[in-house]
Amino acid sequence: MASSSFVTSFLLTLSFTCCIFSSPSVARNDAQKTNNEFMKTSCSATTYPKLCLASLSSLAGAIQTSPKLMACAALNVTLASAISTSTMMSKLSHSHGMEPKEVGAMRDCVEELGDSVYELKKSIAEMGSFKSSDFQLMISDVQTWVSAALTDETTCSDGFEENGMNGKLKTIVGGRIVKIAQLTSNALALINRYASVHD
Ligand SMILES: *[C@@H]1O[C@H](CO)[C@@H](O)[C@H](O)[C@H]1NC(C)=O
Repeated sequence: MASSSFVTSFLLTLSFTCCIFSSPSVARNDAQKTNNEFMKTSCSATTYPKLCLASLSSLAGAIQTSPKLMACAALNVTLASAISTSTMMSKLSHSHGMEPKEVGAMRDCVEELGDSVYELKKSIAEMGSFKSSDFQLMISDVQTWVSAALTDETTCSDGFEENGMNGKLKTIVGGRIVKIAQLTSNALALINRYASVHD
């Protein structure tokens, strides 16, 4: 009798302990699920949802369910991609064996990407430091700048569609620029989404 009640209370304690230990991780899983759902829903509002998920899902934990952080993270990822491609192209344009026409297109592109980097940096800074009374003004500036960045990138990629460009160059460089333009377009959609939920 004494020993069976000991076993019962031991089992009770054990199951109680299990609950205490398991509940935080259940809560964590729930939060993770909520964050992932938010990311999926937000990305589904973009033109390139697969790219959106691929480029941002590793940041789901930091973004949580904030439309502002989602838009900022998309801008950050786009900026990093534009900077690395512009650096790569700048190096490439100084390499040997390129036709003058190709060098010209590369240099134009590096300049256009530079403009788009400038617009993206300005947008990120503005999103991070506005007074809440100026929300409408801030968001319309950012929408204008990110649209301008997209135009610069499109001008750059159009330069590579012209005849006489080396096919390999088109594939390597053109592909990267198309991706930057798609990331930018997604960032713009996420900024618009942030604008629409802000009161
Ligand atoms: C974006 O980058 C800025 C500065 O590089 C950083 O402070 C900020 O936390 C980043 N935002 C997100 C949402 O990743």
